[in-house]
Amino acid sequence: MKMVLASKNAHKLEEMQAILSQMGVDVVLESDVGVDVEVEETGATFEENAFLKAHAVMEASGLPAIADDSGLCVDALNGAPGVYSARYGGPELDDVGRYQLLLNSLRGQLDRRGKFVSCICCCFPNGDKVEARGECPGTIAYAPKGTGGFGYDPVFFLPQLKKTFAELTPEEKNAISHRGNALQKFKTELENYFNGTDQ
Ligand code: IMP
Repeated sequence: MKMVLASKNAHKLEEMQAILSQMGVDVVLESDVGVDVEVEETGATFEENAFLKAHAVMEASGLPAIADDSGLCVDALNGAPGVYSARYGGPELDDVGRYQLLLNSLRGQLDRRGKFVSCICCCFPNGDKVEARGECPGTIAYAPKGTGGFGYDPVFFLPQLKKTFAELTPEEKNAISHRGNALQKFKTELENYFNGTDQ
């Protein structure tokens, strides 16, 4: 079975392929099936945004489509930046600008708890939907540390490892991350769906 990944990111394709090829699913990018849809992420939740993207690409391609949405939720900021993680502080900020803004917003704040969230949604042309959510709890560091990863990784601290996400190897990060977690759950959900145990 062919499925379209609602993304232009070849790295995400590799990640999804590694998991779904074991199930006989052939994952391709939107561009591989001649689809290019700009979906506005207007949802109030990660689940809604993943659904909006997957649904639009499923409609445009006529094939089952998979999308994900992720971000960082900070307790002391009532869950911000949340679904706005990629756009926090406006379009002029880069990754460093966004995590500096986060550190400034938490200046003097002792409650540093937060979590990364990743939601994956697959929409089928018959209206069926398979979803999974992964989370990774941690704290927001007082200063950036480490050079790996992307986004907020240098300021996301894992108390149990005494390291930030940016200090982990990709394998170490995948083993505990929100995305790794969501992908594993998604695999199980999709297996259940294909085996019909889910209906
Ligand atoms: P998305 O591409 O719409 O899911 O936006 C995700 C945004 O959340 C990214 O641009 C990052 O700012 C942030 N984010 C999500 N996952 C991670 C991660 O693993 N490390 C660091 N930042 C992340």
